[in-house]
Amino acid sequence: MDRIKRQGAQTVEQYDVPEENLYEPEDRRRGGSVLRPAALLPHRTFAGLARTFGRIFGRLSRDLGIDLGTANTLVHVKGRGIMLREPSVVAVDTVTHQVLAVGDDAKRMVGRTPAQIRAVRPLRDGVIADFDTTEAMLHHFIEKVLSRRLWEHPRVVIGVPSGITEVERRAVEEASRRAGAWSALVIDEPMAAAIGAGLPVGEAVGSMVVDIGGGTTEVAVISLGGICAERSVRVAGEEMDEAISAYVRHELNLYIGESTAEQIKIKIGSAFPLAQEMEMAIRGKDLVSGLPKSVRLTSQQVREAIREPLGIIVELVKETLDETPPELAADVMNRGIVLAGGVALLRGLDQLISAETDVPVFVAEDPLTAVVMGTARYLDELDGFPLR
Ligand SMILES: Nc1ncnc2c1ncn2[C@@H]1O[C@H](COP(=O)(O)OP(=O)(O)O)[C@@H](O)[C@H]1O
Ligand SMILES: [Mg+2]
Repeated sequence: MDRIKRQGAQTVEQYDVPEENLYEPEDRRRGGSVLRPAALLPHRTFAGLARTFGRIFGRLSRDLGIDLGTANTLVHVKGRGIMLREPSVVAVDTVTHQVLAVGDDAKRMVGRTPAQIRAVRPLRDGVIADFDTTEAMLHHFIEKVLSRRLWEHPRVVIGVPSGITEVERRAVEEASRRAGAWSALVIDEPMAAAIGAGLPVGEAVGSMVVDIGGGTTEVAVISLGGICAERSVRVAGEEMDEAISAYVRHELNLYIGESTAEQIKIKIGSAFPLAQEMEMAIRGKDLVSGLPKSVRLTSQQVREAIREPLGIIVELVKETLDETPPELAADVMNRGIVLAGGVALLRGLDQLISAETDVPVFVAEDPLTAVVMGTARYLDELDGFPLR
C-alpha cells in the first residue's frame, strides 16, 4: 500500500478501479436504447449471468492457506492476511470423548483441568495420532475464519508435516471439504516454507530449507518445483523444552512445568556462544522440600541443556547435504541454507549450523509465518486452475 501511495494520486485512482468491473460503464448502460436486441439473445444473457455470478462468487469466497503445524495453526485468508494464529491444541473429555475447546481456549485449560479433561496436541510428533481430534480442530479453525454465508466455499491449501502418510493426507483434504471447502489440497510443509521464504523453488537451482517447529524438524532441497532430497526427525522445539526441564531437575533439583521451560528457551536460549551471555530467575518446586523456590539460570547452562537436540538437528542437515546430488549441493553451498519455523529464532542457531556445515545460513524474514505465507502464494499461483 505504501508503495502505491508514494507513486502519487493518479496511480491510487487507477489502482482503485477493479480490473474486472462488475458493471458496465455508466455511459454505455445509459446510451442508446435501454434493451438492445443483442442483449436479449439467450446465449449472451446466460454467458453474462454466468460471468457476473462467477465474479460475485470469486469475490465472496476467499481462498484459505493453512499451516497445520505441530505447535501452531495459522490461517491466511486471501485479500485479508493472516486471520488466525492459535496453538494446535484440543481439550477433550476422556469419558464422553467430546471436544470441549480448541486452540487458545484449549491451551488455557492445560494443567488446570480436572482429571476427566485432557488437552491433546493431535499433531504432536508430526504424525496424526488421533484423526478425529485433528478433524475437529481443522473444522473449528476453518469455521472461525469463514462467515456462515452459504456461498462461502473457498479453495484451501494446507501445509502438513511431510512425515504424514498418503491416507492421512487424503483424510486432511476430506476433513477440509467437510468443513466447507470447495476444494482442498495438501502440500508438504518444507515446500510451503521455501515458497513463503521467497526461495526460487521453480527454477533449476537447488535451495535448501530447514523448518524447525514444535514437534518436527524437516530439511529439504528443492529444485524445479520438486523435493530432491529430504529428511525429517521428531526432534524440535518441544524436545528442547523437555531437555531444559530435565537439566534443571538434575542439576538444580528444581521441578518446572512445560511452559516455564519454553519461556527459558525463548528468553535466554542459544545455540552458539553469545557476545553477551544472559541469565534469568526461574521459579519452580524444590524436589527435596516440595516448596516453591527461585534460582538463577544462565544462558551457558541452557545451551548445555539443549546440546543433544541441537546436535541431532545439525546431523540431519549434514545427512541431507550428503544425500543431495552434487550440482544441487553446489548450489546450496553457494546460495546458503534458509531456516524457518519457530526455532529458527533461537539465538545463534544460524551460526552453529554454518560453523558445522561450512555453508552460509540465513533466517527467513518471519520464520513463524513462512509456511502459511507459502500456502497463500501457492494458491495465487493456482489461480485459474480448479483444485480437486
Ligand atoms: N524466539 C524463539 N526462540 C526459540 N524458540 C522459539 C521462539 N519462538 C518460538 N519458538 C519455538 O518454536 C516452536 C513452534 O514453532 P512453529 O513453527 O510454530 O511450530 P509448528 O510448525 O510445529 O507448529 C515452539 O517449540 C516454540 O517454543
Ligand atoms: Mg511448521
